[in-house]
Amino acid sequence: MRVLSGIQPSGALHLGNYFGMMQKMIAHQEQEELFCFIANYHAQTSLSDGKALAKGTLEAAASFLALGLDPEKSVFWVQSDRPEVQELTWMLSNFTPMGLLERCHSYKDKVTQGGKPNHGLFAYPVLMAADILMFQSEKVPVGKDQKQHLEVARDIAVKFNNEYGEVFTIPEPEIDDDVATVPGLDGRKMSKSYGNTIDLFQDDKALRKQVMRIVTDPTPVEEAKNPDNCNIFQIYSLFLDAADRENLRQRYLTPGLRYGDVKQELFETIRDFFAPFRDKREELLANPDSLRETLAAGAEKARRIAFKTMQKVRKKSGLRY
Ligand code: ADP
Ligand code: TRP
Repeated sequence: MRVLSGIQPSGALHLGNYFGMMQKMIAHQEQEELFCFIANYHAQTSLSDGKALAKGTLEAAASFLALGLDPEKSVFWVQSDRPEVQELTWMLSNFTPMGLLERCHSYKDKVTQGGKPNHGLFAYPVLMAADILMFQSEKVPVGKDQKQHLEVARDIAVKFNNEYGEVFTIPEPEIDDDVATVPGLDGRKMSKSYGNTIDLFQDDKALRKQVMRIVTDPTPVEEAKNPDNCNIFQIYSLFLDAADRENLRQRYLTPGLRYGDVKQELFETIRDFFAPFRDKREELLANPDSLRETLAAGAEKARRIAFKTMQKVRKKSGLRY
């Protein structure tokens, strides 16, 4: 099975990114044909500072590799190192009804949050469709927020195939209900745009500070507490197996639990979980040329597949004359 997904290098990676997408991708490399890329073109819809984008791209790549992505077992590259995806975006644009894009929540949400209502942001799902269709992807692991974009990609693929024959594989989203939405500090979806994240790679002091900011209800210490509407419980659960989760649940149901104590435990759990990855990431970032070489080799592997798709698309659509 061919599995593909991408992540934007537009800010610090957080627990939502890790449990919603990165961990699943890394697990897939053992069994599946894995395609994973750093979506730096997409990041340009929210980031115009070139230095920040270049730095973020290397950091995102180092993070993925440090967390266990193996460039030998997968195809791992930076989106803009395969610029043919822009040509495909144009082709697909001609099979993208305006109404399909106008219905996308993500565009409306981003504009509401202060994003610029420009064509890049509006056409973002078409570029995402090109990423997916270029590599004939079968499964696309993403968080729930990306589900609609997958539907757009499928719609475009069907329209294109109706015109030209079976050019594209129709992709399926892979959304794991267990961790479909990781809550942030305030209980809304954890997202860098809400400023409610717990970041994967930061020093202990900053991490502790984020964990201590998790919002809790005002139930007094001497009363039993409800784990099911508690943000600490939801986030802590991501790190626990069924038995430990049940254990924690019982502690909530027993009067006397202090949220401050659970936060301290959660801080230590996150710190210890990511510590080895943090060291590895620092090592990778200390040698950016070697990192660039790894990414160039990945882009070369991606080229072979992209070339095949583009040859077919150019021929069918009459660009080859
Ligand atoms: P953000 O919302 O912080 O901007 P992105 O949109 O860059 O995050 O998301 C990158 C990937 O991580 C996507 O596949 C997305 O679905 C997943 N993801 C992001 N936040 C969460 C979350 N809170 N829960 C689950 N998955 C998430
Ligand atoms: N839009 C995705 C996000 O913000 C990133 C992305 C770009 C992507 N291209 C993709 C995800 C193709 C899956 C497949 O998270």
